[in-house]
Order: sequence, then C-alpha cells, then structure tokens
Amino acid sequence: MLEQTVQIVSNERDTDSYFRLVLRAPRIAPLIQPGQFAHVRILPLKDALLRRPFSIFQVAGDTFSILYKTVGKGTDALSRMRASEEVNVIAPLGHGFTVPKRGGEVPLLVAGGYGMAAMYLLAQRSPQKGIVFVGGRRRADVLCEKEFQALGWEVRVTTQDGSHGEKGLVTELLHAELRRSRADKTLTKRSKIRNLKLFACGPTGMLKAVGKIAEEFKVPAELSMDEHMCCGVGVCLTCVIPVKTGDGWEYQRTCTEGPVFDSSQIEWEVTK
Ligand SMILES: Cc1cc2nc3c(=O)[nH]c(=O)nc-3n(C[C@H](O)[C@H](O)[C@H](O)COP(=O)(O)OP(=O)(O)OC[C@H]3O[C@@H](n4cnc5c(N)ncnc54)[C@H](O)[C@@H]3O)c2cc1C
Ligand code: FES
Repeated sequence: MLEQTVQIVSNERDTDSYFRLVLRAPRIAPLIQPGQFAHVRILPLKDALLRRPFSIFQVAGDTFSILYKTVGKGTDALSRMRASEEVNVIAPLGHGFTVPKRGGEVPLLVAGGYGMAAMYLLAQRSPQKGIVFVGGRRRADVLCEKEFQALGWEVRVTTQDGSHGEKGLVTELLHAELRRSRADKTLTKRSKIRNLKLFACGPTGMLKAVGKIAEEFKVPAELSMDEHMCCGVGVCLTCVIPVKTGDGWEYQRTCTEGPVFDSSQIEWEVTK
C-alpha cells in the first residue's frame, strides 16, 4: 500500500451520472489485486482531508482507473476535475477476491450499479470464464456490458424499470437460474450447480439476498461489503461489520479484513 499524489490522465462521463477516472500511478498499478480499493483525497474539496473509497476498476500499464457515480459533494467535485490535475491516493487497500483457477469452480459474478467496477479486474484475471449478472434501476445503471462480453463472459442484465434486459432484481434472475440449473443439473450447459461460486458487489440489500441464495443452494460466495469508511486503513473502526467466530461473532473492519468476505462468515442478523 502506498500514499501518492498522482496525475489524472482522463476523467470522462460514462453514462448519465457515472464517470471513469484514469490515474497515472506506475508504482501502485502493478500491486493491485481484484476487489481492492483506492482511498482518494479530492484535493480541490474544502474538507479534502476526508478521503472517498472506490473499487479499482481497471489496470493498464502504469495507470489504474475507477468507475464512479456522482452521489454527493466529493464525487461531484471529482467529476469536475480535468486531465493533468492531481488527486492523492492510498492504494491498493483491502483484502480482495480469490481469483478462480482454470478447471475449478465456474464463477458467477453478481453486481448492482457501480458494483460492476469491483468485478472487471476479477473477470479479466480469471482464467475460468463464467456469467455476469448485472442489475440496475434503469438502463443507465447497467455498466460495462460490452467490456465483459469482450472478455468472453456471458452477461445477463436486469433493470427494475424493464428499460434493458429482464425486468426485476438481479437477485431474482440469479435465483431463477440456480433453481432451473438445480432441476436440469446445468447452468447454460456450463457447469453443474455444485461446481459454481458466487462473487458479488453492490448495495447491502443485494448482498444480503446473494448471501441467502448462496446458503439455499449451498454455493460458496465472496461478497464485497462496501461500508461507509473514514480512515480506510484500520484505525477508526467506522467500517466494521459483524463476522462469525467459533462461539459467536465479532466486529471486523471492512477496510482491512475486507472489503471481501466469505458470505458464510457474515452475521446477517446483526448487520446495520
Ligand atoms: C470499498 C468501497 C468501494 C467503493 N467503490 C465505489 C466505486 O467503485 N464506485 C462508486 O461510485 N462508489 C464506490 N463506493 C462508494 C463511494 O465511496 C461513495 O459513493 C462516495 O464516498 C460518496 O462520496 P460523496 O462525497 O460524493 O458523497 P457524500 O456527500 O459523502 O454522500 C452522499 C450520499 O452517498 C451516500 N454514501 C456515501 N458513502 C457511501 C458508501 N460507501 N456506500 C453507499 N452510500 C454512500 C451517503 O450516505 C449520502 O446519502 C465505494 C465504497 C466503498 C466503501
Ligand atoms: S475505515 Fe477506519 S477502520 Fe476501516
């Protein structure tokens, strides 16, 4: 993990309120693992001391990028920054996803909205291709569909308003597919259900639903728990979630022990 002030290569609008920020960071880029994040200090912001966490989306040569949604003053200020301006980053942070092995479990990635950002590097570095289930409120929330297809992954889309893909929640589609595959023993002819593994990133409600589905179908799942963060490096305890221990549960930090946790470890009854 390094702290560096780095230059913006580009900061372009993707769809609607989503932007792609590319940063030149030759010392950080080679260290990045799928599912890790960068803690970004947006220098023009008045309360610039408070960093914002973003999943690392892509790595290319000496650059890495993030894919972010403008939701408040930090991301709004970030969206106004231009090439050659600078941000300060601490990266790469956190404990990421386990990259699937060739011939091992078939990965099913499940993402809601900007959750797709945490998935790209995993899909790119996984020698085992699988299926991406992506959901959003509407068409503009469905990100990177073509980029995942270009990596050789099958992409299934849902939107809540039905403007793209199937109408409904991404977890409903996942559940229906797993139910079907349990009945006829295959999921799109790729694999038997006992040979699947789920990886998910998105809103907490979606992750909780994925956790329940994993339990119901006895499929392992790794979830990226994006809790609100302050320090990002394990000191302030803002980001804790309840994690099962041998005889109960304890709080663990999503910024250091996570953000990726095995779903069977999470004590959902106690989550906020
Ligand atoms: C590990 C991790 C990875 C993340 N990856 C991405 C990513 O790849 N792309 C992306 O767009 N965002 C990502 N986020 C969320 C991102 O950090 C917040 O959207 C951002 O900090 C908001 O800053 P702001 O100043 O614009 O919003 P604020 O003005 O601080 O808040 C505006 C609104 O956003 C809500 N909000 C703030 N932080 C979060 C959060 N962590 N989760 C949900 N709601 C939040 C606030 O409650 C408020 O309603 C990630 C968060 C974590 C913890
Ligand atoms: S954000 Fe401070 S301990 Fe995790």
